[in-house]
Amino acid sequence: MARPRCAICGAPAVVYLRYARMALCREHFREHLLRRVEGVLTRAGLLRRGARIVAAVSGGKDSSTLLDLLAELSRSYGLQVYPLHIDLGIGEYSAHLRRAVERLVSRLGLPLILVEVRRVLRGDGVPEFARRAGRPTCSVCGMVKRYVMNAAAEALGADAIATGHNADDAIAYIVKAFIGQDEEQMAKWLPYTPPSGGAVARVRPLYEVYERYALLYAIVNRIPFTHEECPYRARNSMEDTIKEMFNRLEEQHPGLKIGFLRRFSKKRSAEGVPGPVNRCRICGAPSQGEVCSFCRLTERVYGEPLGPEMRRAVAEAVEKALGVSSGSGRGRASAPPQGSS
Ligand code: AMP
Ligand code: FES
Ligand code: ZN
Ligand code: ZN
Repeated sequence: MARPRCAICGAPAVVYLRYARMALCREHFREHLLRRVEGVLTRAGLLRRGARIVAAVSGGKDSSTLLDLLAELSRSYGLQVYPLHIDLGIGEYSAHLRRAVERLVSRLGLPLILVEVRRVLRGDGVPEFARRAGRPTCSVCGMVKRYVMNAAAEALGADAIATGHNADDAIAYIVKAFIGQDEEQMAKWLPYTPPSGGAVARVRPLYEVYERYALLYAIVNRIPFTHEECPYRARNSMEDTIKEMFNRLEEQHPGLKIGFLRRFSKKRSAEGVPGPVNRCRICGAPSQGEVCSFCRLTERVYGEPLGPEMRRAVAEAVEKALGVSSGSGRGRASAPPQGSS
């Protein structure tokens, strides 16, 4: 059988998008995904010259694809994109992720903000920290990641933190929250969460990009990423089952997943999402209570709250990446050389 051709230019196709009933070549597939990302950023008010976006890059397929697309938009629209990688100290797994991110940013010519949690956690990686705290690794990991992302965004005076969550992730979290009737969780899973109570805004530019297309994009564009999965990831989670279920529905009704997410986000406004309201009295990070969870847990485990130290380490990583030494003032670091043509 003849190889399918791009519906737009006739070149050999790399993908058939069932929901659009269209085969696309590599270039037009890229265009297609760029339009999706642009749509989210436009609605979030972030597609403008000088908008500062921290791109949280794990080294997996989604956030690597995301960074590649954002780098392209920074060239065409003058966004300032700052890749951030957190080395969580999870043995070989973290080492692989970090190497993938380092290769990607060097290919894109972007400076990397690299934060190593071991440096602050007295030589511990996240698993040791969690063990000492007697808490599940993934929940401690999530808390550390949120803390570092927010600290980096604050140090940069960034407008938003972009994560690699794709359409399938968003659906899994929404449906799981719906099953548990957890309104607060459900309200979080919009393409954009505005800044709230000191927490920097979140944007999920791949909100309308299916997981399989994020993966395919990374493969056809030879983007460095790792397939490896976190050793602490739960097998057969409810999220996985929901994803499978929606993939079956999508087979029968192409476009169902995007349609669902569009209706979901149209119906809900991000206003009223309860965010942290205080600032931690020890480190100044946004916090629900008087002391943030990072300071509370590190104090319990290491005998002193490590928030201030982590914030200093993050500010230093930002300065190192940008090649400036501006003191540790908020939002004072200057921009990397990009998007200024
Ligand atoms: P996860 O919570 O592991 O599913 O990751 C969700 C998103 O968080 C990813 O798409 C990334 O944008 C971000 N992320 C996860 N791990 C890291 C990391 N180690 N460093 C920077 N960003 C990360
Ligand atoms: Fe954090 Fe697996 S990536 S526990
Ligand atoms: Zn084409
Ligand atoms: Zn704190």
